[in-house]
Amino acid sequence: MSHDSVSPMSLRVSPTAPVPQSASVTIMTEHVLPPHANAFGNVFGGQIMAWVDICAAICAGRHTRLPCVTAFVDDLHFVAPVKVGEIVALEARVTATFRTSIEIAVTVTGENPVAGRRWSCTSAVLTFVAVDGHGKPLPVPPLLLDTPALQASQKAGEARREHRKASGK
Ligand SMILES: CC(C)(COP(=O)(O)OP(=O)(O)OC[C@H]1O[C@@H](n2cnc3c(N)ncnc32)[C@H](O)[C@@H]1OP(=O)(O)O)[C@@H](O)C(=O)NCCC(=O)NCCS
Repeated sequence: MSHDSVSPMSLRVSPTAPVPQSASVTIMTEHVLPPHANAFGNVFGGQIMAWVDICAAICAGRHTRLPCVTAFVDDLHFVAPVKVGEIVALEARVTATFRTSIEIAVTVTGENPVAGRRWSCTSAVLTFVAVDGHGKPLPVPPLLLDTPALQASQKAGEARREHRKASGK
């Protein structure tokens, strides 16, 4: 068995060629167990937030192939609960890239395994920053904007970033 060990000294410091969105799409599926639930038998919000952060962090790492830290999470609205015994499905996609930061959207879907019914639980948009071993930001590879939908996604990400900056966050 071989192991890849990556020293902070060997991290890439210049951006690579554009990376397709498909290279980093991350899917996570969780079975809701009693330790995940609140007193009402629903998954508690903090658990969903942790899964959202992990799913997005894996996606950021797959796109950048660099260590990434969470810099910002937009508003989270919990639309509908998921109960013990049901399933939480998360999907993370890169929606825009900037110089050293990367925007990732995560959708969270509830699923009842017996009825087969699925529903939207929540969604979030997160910003990660690639960093070296000292926490210094590093350039990220751009997202390959090879479709009109991805070009629109990048523009929407730029607008969200300007709005965030204008509101001092
Ligand atoms: C995120 C962090 C690395 C930014 O470092 P910094 O010295 O402020 O870096 P800069 O001001 O040069 O900004 C670097 C990038 O971060 C982005 N950034 C900084 N603060 C941000 C925020 N609140 N929201 C979104 N992006 C942010 C900048 O826009 C910039 O992106 P760009 O290069 O694509 O334009 C630093 O604030 C940090 O380490 N925060 C703690 C992260 C953490 O502990 N997360 C939880 C555990 S993973």
